[in-house]
Amino acid sequence: MPIELLKDLAYIEGAWCAALDGATFPVTDPANGDHIATVPNLYPADAERAITAAQAAFQGWSRRTGLERADLLWRWHALVVEHTRPLAELMTRECGKPLAESIGEVRYGASFIRWCAEEARRGYGDVIPSEQHDRRLLVLRQPVGVVSAITPWNFPMSMITRKVSPALAAGCTVVLKPSEETPLSALALAALAHEAGLPAGVLNVVTTTQAREVGHLLCTDPRVRKVTFTGSTAVGKQIMALAAGTVKRVSLELGGNAPFIVFDDADLEAAVDGAIASKFRNAGQTCVCANRILVQRGIAERFITALTERALALRVGHGLEDGVQLGPLINDRALAKVERLVGDAVEQGAQLLTGGKATTGRFFPATVLTGITPDMACFREEVFGPVVPITVFDTEAEAITLANDTPYGLAAYFYTRDLARSWRVGEALAFGMVGLNTGLISTAAAPFGGVKESGIGREGSRHALEEFTEMKYLAMAGLETR
Ligand code: SIN
Repeated sequence: MPIELLKDLAYIEGAWCAALDGATFPVTDPANGDHIATVPNLYPADAERAITAAQAAFQGWSRRTGLERADLLWRWHALVVEHTRPLAELMTRECGKPLAESIGEVRYGASFIRWCAEEARRGYGDVIPSEQHDRRLLVLRQPVGVVSAITPWNFPMSMITRKVSPALAAGCTVVLKPSEETPLSALALAALAHEAGLPAGVLNVVTTTQAREVGHLLCTDPRVRKVTFTGSTAVGKQIMALAAGTVKRVSLELGGNAPFIVFDDADLEAAVDGAIASKFRNAGQTCVCANRILVQRGIAERFITALTERALALRVGHGLEDGVQLGPLINDRALAKVERLVGDAVEQGAQLLTGGKATTGRFFPATVLTGITPDMACFREEVFGPVVPITVFDTEAEAITLANDTPYGLAAYFYTRDLARSWRVGEALAFGMVGLNTGLISTAAAPFGGVKESGIGREGSRHALEEFTEMKYLAMAGLETR
């Protein structure tokens, strides 16, 4: 029997369900407004049921061995991989990204399930050498309990697997609230987890437009012991404040303002390739997108010419059309923000080399701006659109000062062929992740996360499961060992 991936019900306690009051909301294609599906609009009372289910499932799930949990995650992984194409098509329809990128995202998302299935067996603790003969001191790693996961629309699948897989692998149970823009990918993932045999209540999906009310419950209910969130810094701060009331642990992956520095000694072609890959992924709607291009004077003209040519050639259109490289922006708010940032820069004296205006609907073409100064809004704010703001600098010290001149600290990139400079700049950049001679840094194997106002905690890597565990110190006394 083929598995139905287009779900129009929420998922609580292993069952597909409507909202208690029957409320629903539509999910539409951001490219053309077409209706895709209608899903339940859950209220806090429904979300409360999900927390109750997750709490009830925690006992059984946390007592399974790591190997038993790993086996289930492997089955989920296999099903996700097997359904790559339909999952990717669904993702493109609800978030707009070109199909090739959606296929890439399904694989990227699956890689977190695989990574965490591998790690599930390695929940090692410590044995501490005792200072007393009759004592033995142990440290156990235990799951934190029920986890609330709140995920964004720009990576409708991989941001879920990056949070849910380590939580499940560690023995936690999860209440997931996906973005209201992209609930369908979340429900499809839940359908595959269900098919893989995940026990009832271990993963629950709460679809809602009531982000504030439901989010409040997910961050304050005392039964929830951890909140993991990807989204804006402004909302991250509210979540942190709410979670403080019951001293929940938090992992926050928040906004960025990534500098992309090109030094005179860079490989020009590689730098242009890297800038295109980093800037235009998902039409510039990623937290780690190059947000400010800083280019050294000696290479600036050649770099800007080559980059502008490549940007002009990017094909804009519906993500399901062949050869499209730039899809639509997610909604009208996103479009208005990009228009505001470009307008502000031009008004203050920046030069527009290409793009600058929406073509039709929410389609915004690749846009290149030069003469950007630190007081312009596009230098200070996260652009979240296909706009390349370029600033020319003279010295390495100036580049580092400009790059670090932001409260954000998620990702940074730089291009150089000088080994000593690679170390100097790599160490001086105040960011959680730094790409040297690459514009793409994301992988399940490495710790993803930011410093300063870009967040707390890391996702992926060998530390992935630690974020969902508590250390328990066990002192064993009165042992006759001599
Ligand atoms: C993000 O934009 O938050 C995630 C990007 C990534 O995982 O590469």
